Amino acid sequence: MGEIANTVIETEDRYQLKTYAKLPLVLDRGRGCYVYDQDGNEYLDLYGGHAVVSTGHCHPRVVEALRTQAEDILFYSNVVYSSVRARAAKKLMELAGPPYWQAFLANSGSEANENAIKLARALTGRATVISLSNSFHGRTYGSLSSTGVSNYAAYLNTPVPGHRILDLQDVAESIDSDTAAVLLEPIQSMGGMEEIPEQTLRQIHGNCRKHGAFLIFDEVQTGVGRTGSFLYAGTGGIYPEMVTLAKGIASGVPASALLVTREVADQVRSGDMGATFGGAPVACAAMEATLQVLEEEDLLRNAARIGNYLREQLEALPWVAEVRGRGLLLGIKIAGGTAKHLGRFLRTRKILAGTSSDPSVLRLMPPLILARDQADTFLEAIRSYEPGH
Ligand SMILES: Cc1ncc(COP(=O)(O)O)c(C=O)c1O
Repeated sequence: MGEIANTVIETEDRYQLKTYAKLPLVLDRGRGCYVYDQDGNEYLDLYGGHAVVSTGHCHPRVVEALRTQAEDILFYSNVVYSSVRARAAKKLMELAGPPYWQAFLANSGSEANENAIKLARALTGRATVISLSNSFHGRTYGSLSSTGVSNYAAYLNTPVPGHRILDLQDVAESIDSDTAAVLLEPIQSMGGMEEIPEQTLRQIHGNCRKHGAFLIFDEVQTGVGRTGSFLYAGTGGIYPEMVTLAKGIASGVPASALLVTREVADQVRSGDMGATFGGAPVACAAMEATLQVLEEEDLLRNAARIGNYLREQLEALPWVAEVRGRGLLLGIKIAGGTAKHLGRFLRTRKILAGTSSDPSVLRLMPPLILARDQADTFLEAIRSYEPGH
């Protein structure tokens, strides 16, 4: 590593609290599916900046929208109307489609989840929020109190009251007249890319309806096209009353959304939710451009097509026990090895991927623009891998 990179690492480690396990990489530039370190090395980014850069790094449309917006107005709050906010919200709801009707715009996945929990409790007048073991919903207090992955939940010496974290098979039967909501990720990404079976989702939603509780899908990772459809909601005809989105929604500019059905929207009153920066013009400019690119470049179909291709090729490898997930949200379960070891190997081949809370599952969450030849570069590298620890 060069001297400049070392200085950056030393400075950041000195002045930023060390709350992240970091790779020894300084990445100051990205284009499309590639990022570049201080020494000029080019990496194929199958980590997607943690499932965030949906349209790739620095998509020209997103950059241009940000530049134009920055010259017009950087910020004004929700106390006034904004053309770009109106356009972005309209586009978002058009892509989400019925039964989703309106959105609350916020800044992060945790914040969107926090508001979904708060709204479900307010509208039902109940306290209990059920979530799943092995789930990840964020780091704020409510979202963390819903998080089942143990190394994160360990930070909570005093969880917010009312949260119940249950094993999947116990959820449906535990829903009762005290339940405000069930909050779940349809594919538990951090938990090792486990997809919840459709039948179980149907049972959970059925019992939520029977008892007047809300079903909330945390689609912070599965949403915005990553699994091949704009939302996972609707798969198998299951439409939760609330859906949260973040990560890829604005290609890397902080933004998130809580989508609700008309029935829920009609019960929300002025003052129920709010955020200074939620729906900020700059975030909305990035969101609008991101959503336009998704549509114009047919990225949902690309995510499904390249995702299927990767799955098919990966499943043929002798040491791959299972390929999990959908579209470009994939987990590779390694027989007799660790994701950390495979991740290190891939970095030597200038490819970035992610680990998960399951030590044997490597995660792929690349930009949705990933092309077939880029998938082949990765496949060529991984075919020469031998599992280890
Ligand atoms: C499924 C899921 N929900 C919520 C979050 C929290 O999002 P944020 O870090 O933007 O608050 C994440 C972040 O990784 C996530 O993967």
